[in-house]
Amino acid sequence: MSRRVRTVPSSTPGVRLAVEEVGPADAPALLLLHGFPFSRSMWEPQLASLAGAVRLIAPDARGAGASDPGDGQTTMETLVDDLFRVLDAVAPGPVVGCGLSMGGYILLRALEREAGRFRAVILCDTRSEPDGDEGRLARADAVRRLRDEGVPAFADGFLSSVLAPGTSERDPELVAALRRRIASNSALGIRGLLLAMATRTDTTPSLRRIAVPTLVLAGSEDALTPPARARAMAERIPGARFAEIPGAGHLSNVEAPEAFGRALSEFLASLDAG
Ligand code: MLT
Repeated sequence: MSRRVRTVPSSTPGVRLAVEEVGPADAPALLLLHGFPFSRSMWEPQLASLAGAVRLIAPDARGAGASDPGDGQTTMETLVDDLFRVLDAVAPGPVVGCGLSMGGYILLRALEREAGRFRAVILCDTRSEPDGDEGRLARADAVRRLRDEGVPAFADGFLSSVLAPGTSERDPELVAALRRRIASNSALGIRGLLLAMATRTDTTPSLRRIAVPTLVLAGSEDALTPPARARAMAERIPGARFAEIPGAGHLSNVEAPEAFGRALSEFLASLDAG
C-alpha cells in the first residue's frame, strides 16, 4: 500500500501543512479530518483498513501533528482556508469528506463556503451548533490549564471526558497511545484550535442545503455529542442516514474501528451503486 506525506504551503507565510495520502492514486478520494486535540494519526485504523478501495487523504490541522501552529491565532476560517489549500494541491476534484468532531466543524463550514468540493459527506461525533457560554468558559479553562499544567495533564483531563465508560479499564494501551498522540502536539497549537472552536459560527441553518449523500455517525456512549443530538442533526439534512456505533464514546473510529469501518464501507459502496 503506497503511503506518502506531502507538505503544502498555507496562505500564512511560514506555516506548512502536512497531508498524508494512502492508497491508489486513481481511486476515489476520501478526505479524513481529525478531531481535537489529535492529528491525522487518529485515523490509523482506517488508513490500514480502507486504503485498498479509496485514496485516503488525511491532513494535519494547523497546530496538530506535523503541521505548523503559526502564531496560535487560529480561527475556523483559517482552518477552512488551510483545507482548501490542501485540496487544491492533492485532490482538486470533488471528494467524499469525513470529519470527526472538530473535523466535522471544519467540514460543515467548508460546505457552507464551497459545497462543490464535496460529492458526499460523513459527519462523525460532531454537531452544527457553536459553543454556548458554558462551552466557551470551558475552552478558557482549557487554555489556562495548558499554560499552568502543560499538555500531558491537559491530555488526561480531556481523555477522561471523551471515552466510553469502561474503555480505560478494557484497553489501557489505547488510552496510553491516545495520550501520547495528544502530548506530541504543542500547547501553542492546541490553544489555536481551542480559539478556532470557541469562535466558530452556527452551521445549523445550512444543514437543509446539503445536497450530497450524507452519513451521520455517533458512538452510542458519546457524552459530548450524544446520539440523540447527532440523529437530530441528520434529520435536518435532506436524505441523510444515521448510524450509531455501539459501545463507542466520542472517539468512535478508534474505540470501535470495526463497526466504524463497516458503516463507512457500506456508505461508500452505496455511492458507487448510486
Ligand atoms: C473533538 O473531539 O474534536 C473535540 O472534543 C470537539 C470539541 O471540543 O468541541
